[in-house]
Amino acid sequence: MSERPTPKTYAVRTFGCQMNEHDSERIAGLLEADGLERVATAEDADVIVLNTCCIRENADNKLYGTLGHLKSLKEQRPDLEIVVGGCLAQKDRELIRERAPHVDVVLGTHNVHRAAELLHEARAHGPIVEILTETVAGDETAFPSALPTRRELDWAAWVTIQIGCDNSCAFCIVPAVRGPEISRPFGELIDEVERLAADGVTEVTLLGQNVNSYGRDLAAALRAGELPADQAAVLAGARWADDLTTGTARRRPLFADLLRAVAAVDGIHRVRFTSPHPKDLLPETIEAMAQAEAVCAHLHLPLQSGSDAVLAAMHRGYTAERYLERLVAARAAIDDLAVTTDIIVGFPGETDEDFARTLDVVAAAEYDSAYTFIYSPRPGTEAAELTDRFVDPAVVGERYERLRVAVERSALARHRARIGRVEEVVVEGPSKRDPDITTGRTAQNKLVHFRASTPLRAGTYATVEVTDARAHHLQGELREVTRPARHRTRIAVVAG
Ligand code: SAH
Ligand code: SF4
Ligand code: F3S
Repeated sequence: MSERPTPKTYAVRTFGCQMNEHDSERIAGLLEADGLERVATAEDADVIVLNTCCIRENADNKLYGTLGHLKSLKEQRPDLEIVVGGCLAQKDRELIRERAPHVDVVLGTHNVHRAAELLHEARAHGPIVEILTETVAGDETAFPSALPTRRELDWAAWVTIQIGCDNSCAFCIVPAVRGPEISRPFGELIDEVERLAADGVTEVTLLGQNVNSYGRDLAAALRAGELPADQAAVLAGARWADDLTTGTARRRPLFADLLRAVAAVDGIHRVRFTSPHPKDLLPETIEAMAQAEAVCAHLHLPLQSGSDAVLAAMHRGYTAERYLERLVAARAAIDDLAVTTDIIVGFPGETDEDFARTLDVVAAAEYDSAYTFIYSPRPGTEAAELTDRFVDPAVVGERYERLRVAVERSALARHRARIGRVEEVVVEGPSKRDPDITTGRTAQNKLVHFRASTPLRAGTYATVEVTDARAHHLQGELREVTRPARHRTRIAVVAG
């Protein structure tokens, strides 16, 4: 097959979670390193990358709908190249090209770093599907942040601390498509955050499916190998490597240690993280959040269900009581803590009584916001087999609506309680709906809309007095700029 004309532009569309978005930044970084330039609309791009998600069924449908639309675009422009990556690609593999033969490259979650090379191969030899079964621990390409990255925001960055997941929640496809849990070496993470800070980043979000189990595998690697001191220090951080040799203390860094170390990096003013699994939320993490000033007062603690029977069937590893105990401990220790959550409605076998328990926990937890989902059977997961226990969709719809109302009531109450307070925000830019309004985000992760007489650069820290509240945002008035944005204006950013 002859080489096609060299493409000049690309666009990436992301369908999934923050981890998926971060992978997109990395794919964009690789394509830019390969000489391509980003364009805003897919229709204008020579290469279109669809980075997919398969957490719920509608995510599947979205991809195949988009591919249908791209088919006619490719008929008009046969040189257009289409790449499908991400979790749905990992799950569906060859099926993607069977359903959409106009796709040029299919790659999975373990070979994101191959995006540019695979495009070259497809250009020279025709369409290619490359899905690997797992990421090899110790492979430096395993972590999205370890490659060229085209960050979406100049002042904020995602940092993947752990890939994969070792849990087996009965509803969840993530372990199947992201593989086993692998932690990124402690020393490497701190180096990366230092580089980001030097580049003007002031806010980092640490990413992992189960951040509180960070480091378990590092400890095993340390125990297993006779590592030279410098390698041990990269893996576990100098302090824990020393402890190992002296044999005195704990043999691995905890997530809490990572939080403190990242928060201590000069220039980092906000540290966020997602998600801590409630079963592994240690007192040390709560203490680190309470003590390290830069760690934001926001805890995203996914509940999934308030019924102990449903939680057990889901294999979540906690009861409603235990969950609430941890939440109460976090609220008691951390000043002005915002708590958000994820809840699934209609897990197989969920009764009215079970659902009533979920509403009880929602009332007790006083969430600041919640992502609510209707249970979606994912082929290959344990719960998808429980077809005789599937809940009537009409019943699920009604429960979902009741839950939505309960969550909004709670969010509005929490937000109203903030009226009159002065909050620090990081400016995100003009509001999407009204360019005269500026949008910022508080440490609690709440959006605030306010008027500024002169435009404020994204990444500026300012104080705002909260004047009004809605369920999903606050309104306010600008008080003063506390810290001007210090990052450079956009040039291609390469981290790592
Ligand atoms: N690792 C995170 C969850 C990541 S998936 C954790 O354990 O907290 C994000 C959310 O999607 C989950 O918290 C869950 O609420 C929802 N979810 C996952 N699988 C689902 C399914 N099959 N149907 C409906 N919602 C689902
Ligand atoms: Fe899925 Fe459970 Fe792992 Fe979260 S902890 S990614 S819900 S299996
Ligand atoms: Fe994220 Fe969706 Fe994959 S939620 S981990 S992109 S299945």
